[in-house]
Amino acid sequence: MLRVAGVSKAFGAVRVLHEVELDAAAGVITGIIGPNGAGKSTLLYVIGGLLKPDTGRIVLEGADITAVVPYKRALRGLVRTFQLSRELGELTVLENLLFARPNQTGESVWKAFAFPHRVRCEERAAADHARTILERVGLWRLADQPARGLSGGQKKLLELCRALMLDPKVILLDEPAAGVSPPMRAEISRVIRTLCDGGITFVIVEHDMDMVASICERIYVFAEGTNLTCGSFKEIAADRRVVDAYLGGLK
Ligand SMILES: Nc1ncnc2c1ncn2[C@@H]1O[C@H](COP(=O)(O)OP(=O)(O)OP(=O)(O)O)[C@@H](O)[C@H]1O
Ligand SMILES: [Mg+2]
Repeated sequence: MLRVAGVSKAFGAVRVLHEVELDAAAGVITGIIGPNGAGKSTLLYVIGGLLKPDTGRIVLEGADITAVVPYKRALRGLVRTFQLSRELGELTVLENLLFARPNQTGESVWKAFAFPHRVRCEERAAADHARTILERVGLWRLADQPARGLSGGQKKLLELCRALMLDPKVILLDEPAAGVSPPMRAEISRVIRTLCDGGITFVIVEHDMDMVASICERIYVFAEGTNLTCGSFKEIAADRRVVDAYLGGLK
């Protein structure tokens, strides 16, 4: 579904990613773990298109998208969320979703005048879509609340809902469990699992090993910008190099 081939990235003299490889199979939750500074978020930026790799390719469903700009990647079904939630605090939960919808006729002033009926139909369809998503994720009861009042975990779910408005095939999540209470972590895991069972492919960067162990079928371990190993949670947990990489990071 999604392949990263030989991706390298440096910021000035600092080499952050070196010859990184990753293969995320369709309908599977792929995890990315590694010590702080391993380059995990940078890799998601490169996959999402916000950073250009120095070398290497990003391939989505067999097509090379390395040169494709982020919003066009999103239109092709590749959507990312950020390590820090980026909700629009003054807007309601529902409005946050409506803002996430691309290519609306009403965004163009002259088209809004020329095609008022089409604008109304699109707005109704977007509102229906948003409602379905919020119900699926369990946030519908908060639809009219300002987003700033949500808990950390609810903000993560809102971020996920905004991604769902784009009808994604692949969602990239950066630390969905960070700053989230344990019961809410379980809830987020459940939502991700359900969405994956519904056909969405996930690539998740995460430090919370309970979440990784419970939902990721295949896990890539990175250290210092390179692939260390990959496999099931059981396989990587038994790998001495993985333990060493984490202990090395604590020094
Ligand atoms: N824009 C940038 N300019 C310079 N260096 C950067 C930039 N972005 C990231 N880095 C450096 O790249 C390295 C990898 O950062 P990255 O954020 O990808 O790590 P990470 O694995 O996501 O870490 P964490 O687990 O703490 O989120 C770090 O040493 C960081 O300081
Ligand atoms: Mg990070």
